[in-house]
Amino acid sequence: MVRHFGIVAALAAGACAITPKQVLQAPRRGAPVPNPSGKVALFSYSQYSFEEQSTTRAWQLLNLETGEITDSGLNSSEVSEAVWIPGTETGVLYINGTNEEIPGGVTLWIADIAKPSERKIVASLEAPFSGLKVANTSSGDLRFLVNSLAYPNGTAYNEELAPKPRHTGRLYNDIYPRHWDHWLTKQRYAVFSGTLLKASGYGLEDHKVRNLLQDIPFNVTKPESPVQPFGGSGDYDISPDGSIYALLTKAPHLNKANFTASYIYVGAFEGSAAPQALNGPGSEAYEAGHQGASGAPTFSPNSKKLAYYQQDGEYYESDRVKLYVVDINQGGYNTGNGSTVSTSGWKGLAPDWDRSAGSIAWAPDSKSVYTTAEDYARTRAFLIPLDSDADFKPKNLTSVTSVTGLAVLPDSSLLIAANAIWTSADFYRLSTDGTQKTLFSALEIDEDLAGLGPHTLEEFFYNGSLPNFDQQLHALVVKPSNFTEGDKYPLAYIIHGGPQGSNANAWSTRWNFQIWADQGYVVVAPNPTGSTGFGQELTDSIAGEWGSYPYEDVVLGWEYVRDNLSSFIDTKNGIVAGASYGGFMTNWIQGHDLGREFKAIVTHDGISNTESAFTTEELWFMRHDYLGPIWAENTTYSKFNPQDHVANFSTPQFVVHNTLDYRLPESDGLSLFNILQTKGIPSRFLNFPDENHHVLDPENSLFWNTEIFNWINHWSKGHELDGNAIGQ
Ligand SMILES: *[C@@H]1O[C@H](CO)[C@@H](O)[C@H](O)[C@H]1NC(C)=O
Ligand SMILES: *[C@@H]1O[C@H](CO)[C@@H](O)[C@H](O)[C@H]1NC(C)=O
Ligand SMILES: *[C@@H]1O[C@H](CO)[C@@H](O)[C@H](O)[C@H]1NC(C)=O
Ligand SMILES: *[C@@H]1O[C@H](CO)[C@@H](O)[C@H](O)[C@H]1NC(C)=O
Ligand SMILES: *[C@@H]1O[C@H](CO)[C@@H](O)[C@H](O)[C@H]1NC(C)=O
Ligand SMILES: *[C@@H]1O[C@H](CO)[C@@H](O)[C@H](O)[C@H]1NC(C)=O
Ligand SMILES: *[C@@H]1O[C@H](CO)[C@@H](O)[C@H](O)[C@H]1NC(C)=O
Ligand SMILES: *[C@@H]1O[C@H](CO)[C@@H](O)[C@H](O)[C@H]1NC(C)=O
Ligand SMILES: *[C@@H]1O[C@H](CO)[C@@H](O)[C@H](O)[C@H]1NC(C)=O
Ligand SMILES: *[C@@H]1O[C@H](CO)[C@@H](O)[C@H](O)[C@H]1NC(C)=O
Ligand SMILES: *[C@@H]1O[C@H](CO)[C@@H](O)[C@H](O)[C@H]1NC(C)=O
Ligand SMILES: *[C@@H]1O[C@H](CO)[C@@H](O)[C@H](O)[C@H]1NC(C)=O
Repeated sequence: MVRHFGIVAALAAGACAITPKQVLQAPRRGAPVPNPSGKVALFSYSQYSFEEQSTTRAWQLLNLETGEITDSGLNSSEVSEAVWIPGTETGVLYINGTNEEIPGGVTLWIADIAKPSERKIVASLEAPFSGLKVANTSSGDLRFLVNSLAYPNGTAYNEELAPKPRHTGRLYNDIYPRHWDHWLTKQRYAVFSGTLLKASGYGLEDHKVRNLLQDIPFNVTKPESPVQPFGGSGDYDISPDGSIYALLTKAPHLNKANFTASYIYVGAFEGSAAPQALNGPGSEAYEAGHQGASGAPTFSPNSKKLAYYQQDGEYYESDRVKLYVVDINQGGYNTGNGSTVSTSGWKGLAPDWDRSAGSIAWAPDSKSVYTTAEDYARTRAFLIPLDSDADFKPKNLTSVTSVTGLAVLPDSSLLIAANAIWTSADFYRLSTDGTQKTLFSALEIDEDLAGLGPHTLEEFFYNGSLPNFDQQLHALVVKPSNFTEGDKYPLAYIIHGGPQGSNANAWSTRWNFQIWADQGYVVVAPNPTGSTGFGQELTDSIAGEWGSYPYEDVVLGWEYVRDNLSSFIDTKNGIVAGASYGGFMTNWIQGHDLGREFKAIVTHDGISNTESAFTTEELWFMRHDYLGPIWAENTTYSKFNPQDHVANFSTPQFVVHNTLDYRLPESDGLSLFNILQTKGIPSRFLNFPDENHHVLDPENSLFWNTEIFNWINHWSKGHELDGNAIGQ
């Protein structure tokens, strides 16, 4: 209650600007996962303290009737993951990060949240397994899936027990030696299955888990699931009856650098045969031309169907993501000799819908699926009945905020987690009749968020440059929390990455538009050509056009602000900032006329020399976006190269480039900084040796925000430049 008084006081004072520190130290909450009866939901909670320099974690319970939040009693220092056991009210299976017998291993425990102290260890696992999923079978046995790195021979890899290599040399035969922030080793991730036998008090059958990927044939890419670096337990699933599993791996006959293609394999839990790809070469899906990255294999509640998504293009990472469903046929189930699984009845869901699907959740009757999709600068929820026609256009079930988690409760209502520019987490129930019941809003609870609200967000639409495009382009406007009518604030123009991505009404601990605005700016965040959530044509039109339409759109958006929003936005003292493709665009702007309209530029991990684009390992990306490999004819490596326009560079620029960014190596930031310095253009270079494309550590994030704001406040507003830079 005391916290609420704090908020009331802050609101009364009126001027409650949010600082980087407040955003970074505010609690972070995962999406709640409902128990089988839909009465409570479990979610992760963490909070970083700048005073203690440490993070507090907890497993919390949300009451789905009252919204009351309590501690689950699961000790977060010991419990790394917990899943509900179907068929129980509050039973959980969890991973305990300590294994007293096997250093570096973990243990599985069964407990009841209602009586967490009456827990029981059921299995000792030899490696640091994670990604737990469980089915409670009709026989009473529990069948589970987990994942871990594995040796080439299939045995799970335990770093603590592995012999230390005598040298640090890394020798490669083929491309893709490293990706994101990791160098490839011989160990790859694999999904493992195990059975906890009811008859033996839930002891682990054969005292071991089985590597499900080991026997998948390959001639190029060793199968790996979850797919790195972002894959997790969403890359595999177990049917609710425990009979079938499904898992995702990149296409094993294609090299990882050239292609994004991936396939979903299904197999019988009891079977000994290797799983079969349901959308691989020879399948109906593949032969119909759907050959790109797939994902989110999700079994229906009745275990008879599997839904998943897939892109068409085998090397286009931003192709439209379409939904599919197949029937699962079990042969020889429970015959004990290696039962078989086949799929049939493959069908696209709303195949003509011009949006890209995100997550998948089944309705309790197994007759429709819920999905999320980016839609006009937020992620919204949609429902698609399985029997809908090809021309079915799903209607959005949610509106203003961005959906980050969606679960279906037994009464068919939805449990939604969402965020927005003004709230880090809202949890609410959405009934089938559209009624919303708020269970929790971080905005109302977290002291650090006090004073935020929808009042700072506006949007505008303007005409873009793309010929024959029948929609206007969208831009977000975020005003300072203490915006005063009649005052003018310098423009902070923020370009998004991707380039196939969006500036959206979403919470971020990395690029939080409200903290930029609360430095005393109005943030304008445009969605130019290349953006997602406005239909595939806008997204696709950036290929081979990095410096043309998107740049012209960014100019048109800026002119719109100058001409139409000048009553509260001062473009004469504006700044421009962007990361990744947004960093490329700021570098392109630096070399073009728009660059002269800004007092300062901020670029984070952006390409400055497109001729060196082959330093990355995501060769599929250039092959699509630059129209071919670097030696091919008519590509755009030299057409839109920021460093070819160095003669025009003259605006003060802050360059961030991190060492662990293996996708866009730090050499691009360094060469840009060297050019700026050599030309005598005021500039600073910020590097984090321990961060990848993203700055994630809270202390690093605070420094990132502080130094960037110091830079823009100096050049836009004349504040003093700090003395934090390391001299010669
Ligand atoms: C608004 O907030 C900014 C940043 O905290 C502060 O500098 C400014 O004085 C505030 N303005 C008003 C009118 O309260
Ligand atoms: C949680 O686990 C940690 C680490 O084992 C231990 O120090 C702590 O006392 C436990 N907390 C509770 C409430 O049991
Ligand atoms: C599995 O579900 C049954 C009800 O179908 C329940 O009685 C049993 O306790 C569950 N198993 C475990 C380990 O909780
Ligand atoms: C985790 O395992 C350790 C070692 O066996 C044990 O001492 C601890 O009580 C366990 N904690 C939980 C929550 O299971
Ligand atoms: C697999 O290889 C690892 C590393 O060489 C070894 O420790 C392990 O015993 C092997 N497993 C089997 C089943 O041969
Ligand atoms: C791998 O197998 C596929 C067929 O599955 C074949 O088309 C391809 O040529 C083979 N690649 C290599 C490198 O052997
Ligand atoms: C064993 O599996 C094979 C195919 O894998 C099948 O033809 C045979 O009928 C099965 N035997 C039994 C007893 O189910
Ligand atoms: C769907 O989105 C529109 C805006 O595009 C909004 O006006 C409407 O309220 C949304 N529908 C629901 C059910 O939230
Ligand atoms: C914007 O584009 C629309 C067509 O999409 C056109 O009708 C309108 O005249 C344009 N407005 C301006 C100001 O160019
Ligand atoms: C300003 O807004 C008007 C009305 O929407 C529009 O016609 C005009 O094109 C805008 N100016 C710019 C530069 O976009
Ligand atoms: C990778 O793609 C390039 C074209 O972008 C092609 O020349 C090369 O042969 C491909 N390599 C493999 C192994 O597929
Ligand atoms: C490159 O463009 C030229 C001129 O349009 C065309 O004649 C040629 O066929 C193109 N080359 C390739 C490999 O597409």
